[in-house]
Amino acid sequence: MSHADLVVVANRLPVDRDDEGGWRPSPGGLVAALEPVMRHADGAWVGWPGQPDLHVDEFDFSGMHLVPVGLSEHEVADYYEGFSNGTIWPLYHDVIAAPRYRRDWWNAYVEVNQRFADAAARAAAPNATVWVQDYQLQLVPQLVRAQRPDVTIGYFHHIPFPAYGLFSQLPWRRQVLEGLLGADVIGFQRTADASNFARAVHRQLRYETRASGIRVRNEDGTQRLALAKAFPISIDAAAYVELAQRDDIRRRAAEIRAELGNPEKIFLGVDRLDYTKGIRHRMEAIGELFDEGRLSVERATLVQVASPSRERVDAYAQLRDEIEQVVGRINGTHDTMEHTAIRYLHQAFPREEMVALYLAADVMLVTALRDGMNLVAKEYVASRTDNQGVLVLSEFAGAADELSTAIRVNPHDIEGMKDAIMDAVEMPPTEQRKRMRKLRHRVQEHDVVAWSRGFLTALARSRKANAS
Ligand code: F6P
Repeated sequence: MSHADLVVVANRLPVDRDDEGGWRPSPGGLVAALEPVMRHADGAWVGWPGQPDLHVDEFDFSGMHLVPVGLSEHEVADYYEGFSNGTIWPLYHDVIAAPRYRRDWWNAYVEVNQRFADAAARAAAPNATVWVQDYQLQLVPQLVRAQRPDVTIGYFHHIPFPAYGLFSQLPWRRQVLEGLLGADVIGFQRTADASNFARAVHRQLRYETRASGIRVRNEDGTQRLALAKAFPISIDAAAYVELAQRDDIRRRAAEIRAELGNPEKIFLGVDRLDYTKGIRHRMEAIGELFDEGRLSVERATLVQVASPSRERVDAYAQLRDEIEQVVGRINGTHDTMEHTAIRYLHQAFPREEMVALYLAADVMLVTALRDGMNLVAKEYVASRTDNQGVLVLSEFAGAADELSTAIRVNPHDIEGMKDAIMDAVEMPPTEQRKRMRKLRHRVQEHDVVAWSRGFLTALARSRKANAS
């Protein structure tokens, strides 16, 4: 058992199992953000090791204490694929796919959340800070508070929080709100998400909600203030800048362009293969531009990286079939022996290759139908140390609140998106530079370290305010 002053609780541990049965760091940005704070605070990380029926003891890794929470095959199906990704994920992304409300999935969610909360309560030192991450663990804040009233609890929601009209579909809406309100600070990506949450709390629980916080009634009759506020997440920008300046990565970018036949314009899409990302909408727009002769395969090509994700969930398997049909149709119509309209890669790549792709791409297409933040948009911007390249960004991605000099699109409006893509194609280098500089400034100033510092400062303040 450890006694950590800072305990991060996330669905996944920040490591993956390697082929030799050891562990390697997983590439996520959250690890990069929290590693320095975790080392300093004698931190512990509670999470699932990512495979069913893998039960391992606590261990130390790279200055962090890791506390694995095992999940059975059945729990992976009901808690992770079921309630997290078959109920909450589609509901919170504005019902792009139909959420399923299954009581057995909910029961597994409650049970697994309790297990995470127990592990966090055991790992926390007296008066520690416990920071819960994301929608898979919405009940954990309250479950930790019930066992450990001495600790300060933060929760950060990485995905959107929907409008009340949608949220209210959830049969367990009260339990979820009460679970989240166990936290002292509940962080969201956008101000609109925080407002949706506050409204749901007001409508369901009748708690008083003000800018200073939500007045929560504790079980013992006392009251405290919980703060619901936007803390837009970011990336480790310096790490991307460093990679983008490496000679081997710049050479690789030139090589990618050459391998694609040195087209004048390379479009790039990089997403988990998820129905929220608008991959099909983007391909439709590009396909029609080829159909109409506004683009030609000799001059332009789209590289679409779609990394495999949640493959056992029905909606994801269906989406893959759909996307692959669209790619086949567009390529079948437009490809020549030498050139392709869409280079589709259903694969994941290391960060070095991603940065080479960002440097090779003239136009980055982020056309999500709904997205908490979209860190790919920020990665592209951070990598463009040459201040060139154009970001086409959906107004439905959280990143749109910050990246105001991107070309904004509504991905449902295919005609509008086609025009926006052509504007990007035709944008002169001086205009690209002007816009990219502003985007880069924002991402570099507001990187992931600033994000975690901002959240933890608000958390410390709220503890003080509630103690006085
Ligand atoms: O940001 C949303 C999120 O679900 C994270 O919680 C998660 O780490 C990431 O996307 C990848 O999803 P998964 O863990 O389901 O592969």
